[in-house]
Amino acid sequence: MSEVVLSVQDVSIVYRVSRGQVKASQHISFDLHKGESLALIGESGSGKTTVSLSFIDMLPSAAKITGGKVLYTRDGKTENIFEFSEARMRDFRWHDCAMVFQGAQNAFNPVLKIKEQFLDTARAHGWRDKGKVIKRTLELLRLVRLDPERTLESFPHELSGGMKQRTLLALGVLLDPQVVILDEPTTALDILTQRAIIEVLKEMQSRLGFSIIFISHDLALAAEMADRVATMYAGEMVELGSTQHIFYEPLHPYSLGLLQSVPRLSQDKDELSSIKGNPPDLIDPPSGCKFHPRCPFAQELCNQEEPVFKEHEPGHFAACHFTENVIEARANLWKKD
Ligand SMILES: Nc1ncnc2c1ncn2[C@@H]1O[C@H](COP(=O)(O)OP(=O)(O)O)[C@@H](O)[C@H]1O
Ligand SMILES: [Mg+2]
Repeated sequence: MSEVVLSVQDVSIVYRVSRGQVKASQHISFDLHKGESLALIGESGSGKTTVSLSFIDMLPSAAKITGGKVLYTRDGKTENIFEFSEARMRDFRWHDCAMVFQGAQNAFNPVLKIKEQFLDTARAHGWRDKGKVIKRTLELLRLVRLDPERTLESFPHELSGGMKQRTLLALGVLLDPQVVILDEPTTALDILTQRAIIEVLKEMQSRLGFSIIFISHDLALAAEMADRVATMYAGEMVELGSTQHIFYEPLHPYSLGLLQSVPRLSQDKDELSSIKGNPPDLIDPPSGCKFHPRCPFAQELCNQEEPVFKEHEPGHFAACHFTENVIEARANLWKKD
């Protein structure tokens, strides 16, 4: 695979609350390669947003990074993001790494035309040549398949949800970042608009060559977008592999559960199973494997011993004591189709 741009190594983050510490993201490790798209999937509350916010130093004040490092490489130079000065971090955001936040469609300033919002962003990061900014903005708006001139002169309320999301994608890559983090970028949109956004994203990525961290609770959508998928559960990464691995050959019961919740053509609606139970309390999580209280395959060992996150086949990692049971169950799942 190509060169690594972001190497996340054993990152742990907690939130300090009155009852104790919310172990929001624990021991997260993965490499993001140049030009690849990696999806982080998992139910709401699994720690996807928290770990991503740490990369651009945008964690809320209650959060504390308790361990790990994130190595960033550009033009052959490698730095630890967690050791950046404030000035370096300001430059890093947008120029190196841009994040499109969850629910950001409403973050546009309602009284400014789109044009002003692009110019403001560019100005704030040292791009003073107005002509150059407008030229790049028009190109990017065209790339996300909007009418460029018309969008520039619009106020946010004049754009539909899908159009606002496309505009945000264009804004995200305005300063030509190497890494783009998209946090639930299609969640508020209808299914056809979601698909259209994915198409646009893929085209942007192939033209501009940036790497993507795509955060989603929707496995089917992630599978369409990503080259690799990481499943998160209760603040931990429980599985990581190619999209083929996670979507067709999952090794972790939680990934399998997410897969069973994806509607398929050959399936009746009543057959659609969602994972029973609720995610655990992250202040006082279950012993052993955190998924064991909800796991259909759990045995005594699962409650006693935390499974190691290990490589089961090249590039396919999972933390489960009984992957053979998952393999058997997934074979039945695909047989029905
Ligand atoms: N500001 C905060 N203070 C305390 N706990 C938080 C805060 N933000 C998030 N959390 C908790 O951290 C955990 C992970 O949240 P988050 O990273 O938002 O998950 P996801 O993006 O996967 O939905 C959840 O249990 C959530 O309740
Ligand atoms: Mg989130």
